[in-house]
Amino acid sequence: MSAKHFLNISDLTVGELELILDLSVRPINTLGRPLEGRGAALIFEKPSNRTRHSMEMAVVQLGGHPVYTRGEEVGIDVRETAEDIAEVMAGYHGLLAARVFRHDVVTRMATVSPVPVVNMLSDYSHPLQALADTLTMRQTIGALKDRSVAWSGDYNNVARSLAEACVMLGAKFSIATPPAYAPQAAEIARINSLGSGEFVATTDPTSAVVGADAVHTDVWVSMGQEAEAAEKEKVFLSYKVTSELMNKAKPDAQFFHCLPAHRGFEVDAAVIDGAASRVIPQAHNRMHSARGALAFVLGVGQ
Ligand code: CP
Ligand code: NVA
Repeated sequence: MSAKHFLNISDLTVGELELILDLSVRPINTLGRPLEGRGAALIFEKPSNRTRHSMEMAVVQLGGHPVYTRGEEVGIDVRETAEDIAEVMAGYHGLLAARVFRHDVVTRMATVSPVPVVNMLSDYSHPLQALADTLTMRQTIGALKDRSVAWSGDYNNVARSLAEACVMLGAKFSIATPPAYAPQAAEIARINSLGSGEFVATTDPTSAVVGADAVHTDVWVSMGQEAEAAEKEKVFLSYKVTSELMNKAKPDAQFFHCLPAHRGFEVDAAVIDGAASRVIPQAHNRMHSARGALAFVLGVGQ
């Protein structure tokens, strides 16, 4: 049987997404030790705090040994091809995971790897983050079915994965972006076909946030987009999550951010450091949801 990979939230069925969220909150000692005596290669082409630490600890909790590897050490498609790297490492490890500039690198690795490949963030998606985001929202605002989740800012890797998860779990996901950064009609239709929720795009932050149970954002300039910083910082200014914008959401609305955050840019300090902020439990849930995702690709609970 071919390995189960985890590259996008939309690769999962709704039932599989629910299973991962369930595995994420099960006591560790009920998961078995599916990586016992095996390694897990964690390859990073970009910096990381949360993803590296949460994945290393999730591997340890499942009985395995994480091997952190910097992208420039292996030189993906420079020193050797992504395919050769994956096929060789799969002989040493029970699991491969990569944080990459180009999404096709993780898909090419998955094509040849006989062991699971996990996407730890690409230019296209950040599925591990969406697991932690939905897990945290479930714990703080309850089941997501018919709830309203808003996003003001860039439609990026994190937003795409979160939109997919929200629609699959039956929530309404409303995103406000500047017109030039809006999701295309085909992308909106693709996400709307994933589940019973709804994906709505607007250019008006207030209309996205009105009635929301949760308000999310992320950096305006993702890793690899540094050359666009000056332009984006101008265009996104009115999409900043301020206390005034939070006041347009439900009175008990909560604030989420995948971190790292840039106070004064995509979010004001008063919001991210205020009473409605859930960013620290959200970051801590990266470890629990990574454990759930790894247990899933390793066949636990199926
Ligand atoms: N949220 C997130 O992926 O953080 P890191 O870049 O620190 O891993
Ligand atoms: N969108 C951000 C997320 C960082 C965790 C980036 O890709 O840099």
